Formats: sequence, structure tokens, C-alpha cells
Amino acid sequence: MILPIIMAGGSGTRLWPLSRGNYPKQFLKLHGENTMLQETILRLNGLEHAPAMLICNEEHRFIAAEQVRQIGVAHSGIFLEPVGRNTAPAIALAAFKAFENSQDALLLVLAADHVIENQAAFQESVNKAKLLAEQGKLVTFGIVGNTPETGYGYIKRGAEVEHGFVVDSFVEKPNLETAQGYIASGDYYWNSGMFLFKASRYLEELKAFRPDIYEACEKAIQVQNNDMDFVRVDKEAFEACPDESVDYAVMEHTKDAVVVPMDADWSDVGGFAALWEVSSQDESGNAFIGDVKSVDTKNTLVFGEDKLVATVGVEDLVIVNTKDAVLVAHKDESQKVKQIVSQLKADE
Ligand code: GDD
Ligand code: MG
Repeated sequence: MILPIIMAGGSGTRLWPLSRGNYPKQFLKLHGENTMLQETILRLNGLEHAPAMLICNEEHRFIAAEQVRQIGVAHSGIFLEPVGRNTAPAIALAAFKAFENSQDALLLVLAADHVIENQAAFQESVNKAKLLAEQGKLVTFGIVGNTPETGYGYIKRGAEVEHGFVVDSFVEKPNLETAQGYIASGDYYWNSGMFLFKASRYLEELKAFRPDIYEACEKAIQVQNNDMDFVRVDKEAFEACPDESVDYAVMEHTKDAVVVPMDADWSDVGGFAALWEVSSQDESGNAFIGDVKSVDTKNTLVFGEDKLVATVGVEDLVIVNTKDAVLVAHKDESQKVKQIVSQLKADE
């Protein structure tokens, strides 16, 4: 049975000031009627699966619980991390928990902050991956990419197997030159950051490659404190766990990785330029959200909250007006918003 694990513990700093430390990206309505977390859960509708398990930071528990309640979909608990230790430990907690009930649970690891326009294609890839994961493979979903993004993992396709390809190599976040070579070769997919594997296989591989993370999580889960839908683990043990992503900890090393292509109009909405791309635009390429008036404005993204925003004679801008902060950025440079967040943290 597929058990979806929804990772919702990221900070989304490249979308500041929309995304904030106490209210990050995955809890926002950035695309469509629902928040990104809600969309992630609703996207599973129609797929045969057990109720999803969420895993997020303690600090966001009420936001997560309320958003799940709003859509009225059953879930199987909200794991709370006392601190963020990145995705390898988060998945390990979920895997240990799943393992308590069934050794053969197939974990469908999903990020709570992706846009996927084609739900049918998403589910089709998951169903194909299921057959491979049942054989003990660690499946990653590969996106056909055409730009040398350096914020993604890259998967080199090897021999074809039924429903997918053997992973020849997996490289997390290569530099620009390397990424350019990968895209030119046509042999690589972007890693979507979604995975499907047996809980038992993930734990075996984690134990082999990162016994330190395995042991810290095993210890942390020995003390479980259930409070309504929330599950807390041993704080001290989890705090002592190294910080690492699943990509570096397991996917780069395992010999059992396979890739299943996914052609589902996927975006990880990694910054404002990506948000502009997925937003509906007028004939001048403008995506206006909120109360916006414009003259001679092109290819611009505006988020207006509680105030009218007006633009005249500008193009390729990102303008975000929130209650307590205004951002004006060139669309091509908007990734650097992260640096503003660092400055703000330094000032704290
Ligand atoms: N629960 C929990 N705890 N969730 C976390 C934590 C954590 O400590 N850290 C991150 N997450 C969640 C984020 O909210 C996001 O949904 C997902 O895990 C992935 O984390 P990111 O921090 O967004 O990863 P990334 O974008 O740098 O890289 C990953 O995704 C790319 C595609 O978007 C990698 O898997 C790349 O290989 C991949 O290309
Ligand atoms: Mg991401």
C-alpha cells in the first residue's frame, strides 16, 4: 500500500516577503484556490493510498492542522520536528513509524511546495513507480528539463527497465558548467524531489550510507508523544541528528535507484520568476494578483495585498506588497531575495 509522506518543513526564503519564517511557502495560496500543502494532498485523490502522513516543524503545527482540516481529507498524523534537520532525517522518522505497522509500506515522499498541473500524469508515473518500488528499488521521478538549473539534482539515465530507467548516476546540485553539459547531452533528468520506496529499503540504505542519521532517528522515535493528531519524538535525540538531505545521504550513493519519467507540468516554484511562469498572465505577460492598475507594463508579476499597486512603463519586474514589507526586484535577479532574508536575520 502506498503511504504518502508530505514534507512540509522547508523555509521558502526565495519567496520573501510572501513566504515568512512563521508562515512559509508551502502554507500559502500561490497558485489556484488552495494552499500548496492542500494541493499536494488533493493531488492524491484517485490514487490508491493510505491516508497521508505530514511532517513539519513544531512551530507550524496549527497552520498545518488547520489547512488539513479545511479540505476534509483523512490523514494519518502530523509528525512534528523540534528542529529542521533536512529531508533525510524527516523521511527516516516517517519510515520508522511506517515500519511499525507494515514492513512493506511504500513511502511516496512528496514535497509540499510543488505545482503540478497535470494530476493524471502525476498519478500515472506513481503507478508505474509502484511496480518498481515493490521490487525493492528506490524510485525517483525525473523531469525533462531544458535549462541548466543549479538548484536541482540531476539524474543520468542508464539502461531501460520496465516502466523506467536504471539511474546511472545521481548528482545533487551541480555547478553551472556541469549542469550545462548535462542539459546539452540530453541524457539527464531533473530530480523532482519526489520518491517512492519501501520504508524497509530506505532504512537499509540509510543505515549503510549514513549510520549516524539512522541511529539518531531510531533513538528519537523510541520516545513518542501523541497529542491529538500530533506526534512528537525525543527532542534531544533528534537535535543531535546530523542535517542532511535525502539526495546527498541516500540517492547519490544507492545502487538500487531507478528513475521514472514524469511529464506533469511540474514546477517547484523556487522563486518569483518560476511563480510568474506558472501564474496566469494577460496578453502583455503580466501576472497580477490583488488590486493592480497598470499602464505600459510588460512581463511583470505583482502581488498586491490590502493596497492598490499601480505600475507605469516598466517591464520584467517583481513587485510584492505585503502589510509590513514591499519588494521590488528585477525578475531575472529575483533569486537574490534570499540575500535580503540573510541580511534581515543578521540584523535580528
Ligand atoms: N519535514 C521537513 N523537515 N521537511 C523539510 C525539511 C525538514 O527539515 N527541509 C526541507 N523540507 C521539505 C521542503 O518543505 C520541501 O517541500 C522539500 O522538503 C524539499 O526541500 P527543499 O529544501 O525545497 O529542497 P531543494 O529544493 O533544495 O532540493 C530538492 O528538491 C529539488 C526539486 O525541487 C532536491 O530533492 C533536489 O534534488 C530536487 O531537484
Ligand atoms: Mg525546493
